[in-house]
Amino acid sequence: MAIRIIGTGSALPEKTMTNEDLTRLVDTSDEWIRERTGIGTRHISTGETVVSLAAQACQHALESAGRDASEVELLLIATCTPERGIPCAACQVQNELGAAQAAAFDLNAACAGFLFALNTACAYIEAGIYQNALIAGSEVLSKIIDWTDRSTCVLFGDGAGAVLVERCEQGGILAIAQHSDGNKGAVLQCDGRELHNPFVDVPATVPYVRMDGREVFAFAVRQVPSCIQEVLGKAGLTAGEVDLYVLHQANKRIIEGISKRLAVDLDRFPMNLDRVGNMSSAAIPVLLDELNREGRLREGMTLVLSGFGAGLTYGACVLKW
Ligand code: COA
Repeated sequence: MAIRIIGTGSALPEKTMTNEDLTRLVDTSDEWIRERTGIGTRHISTGETVVSLAAQACQHALESAGRDASEVELLLIATCTPERGIPCAACQVQNELGAAQAAAFDLNAACAGFLFALNTACAYIEAGIYQNALIAGSEVLSKIIDWTDRSTCVLFGDGAGAVLVERCEQGGILAIAQHSDGNKGAVLQCDGRELHNPFVDVPATVPYVRMDGREVFAFAVRQVPSCIQEVLGKAGLTAGEVDLYVLHQANKRIIEGISKRLAVDLDRFPMNLDRVGNMSSAAIPVLLDELNREGRLREGMTLVLSGFGAGLTYGACVLKW
């Protein structure tokens, strides 16, 4: 029994914001942002929501697979910026799509969320509980960013990407790994609502993302290659046998560091972060959809997907396209 990706989709907010635009908000420059991150532009919501973006990406994934929403059995949304506490974004997307048969729930593993959701879907399908799953990573990070903090506001963007996976006879996903290190949670965090009940009333504050960028950078360059080696080992492959590395798009220098550690040419690491920034859980499925639509994914190709982020969380997957 195997599981393969049979459709991809993505959706980005209409409005774009350049590095030049950011220089009017904080003390920064196009040169600094490009040099330290590789980012040039990002899409920022002026009304699009985690639900509307995810629903659009999911619809495109269904169309690209030639399937109807009524056939979906499991619907997972990876997000750390849901619209509501309840109901979850996945139930709202289910309603928008008319995926009436699907069991739907959200999963938050920050920027590794898409990989954790993919792994969850695979476990359900392997257990024989479902035949297919629609999985999206969707974020409107712009609402939890402090737009006066130049060390974070230049990095992130909004968007959603989705894949449809289905049970198949052979090929598809060969190995997946996922890991968490809660001990390092403080290096990248955003608080939730304060305690407010008849016994305790903490004055409400507006929570924003806070980050120790250097710690996150070091963690990514160290852990992502070892996680990739772990899945390659499980699949009996070497780093050189992989055609494309579809990695979380956080920083060009992180991707360069990973390519160096794996001793694999950078041209096997497609990037779109110059146009979209870091979209957390949406980054991998959006890039995958772009590659798919550009015809760069040929049947039989070996791909590695790998993400990392707040938690800290990280994961990797190796698959045959
Ligand atoms: N524009 C101009 N200067 C900036 C700046 C900006 N947007 N942001 C920070 N700086 C300044 C700092 O204040 C510091 O100034 P100082 O030397 O006077 O104190 C200087 O640039 C260097 O800051 P530093 O944090 O050491 O830069 P860096 O090379 O580590 O790059 C990041 C910062 C955030 C780009 C980098 O650490 C990074 O990408 N980390 C990973 C973050 C990430 O990907 N998070 C999401 C993971 S899912």
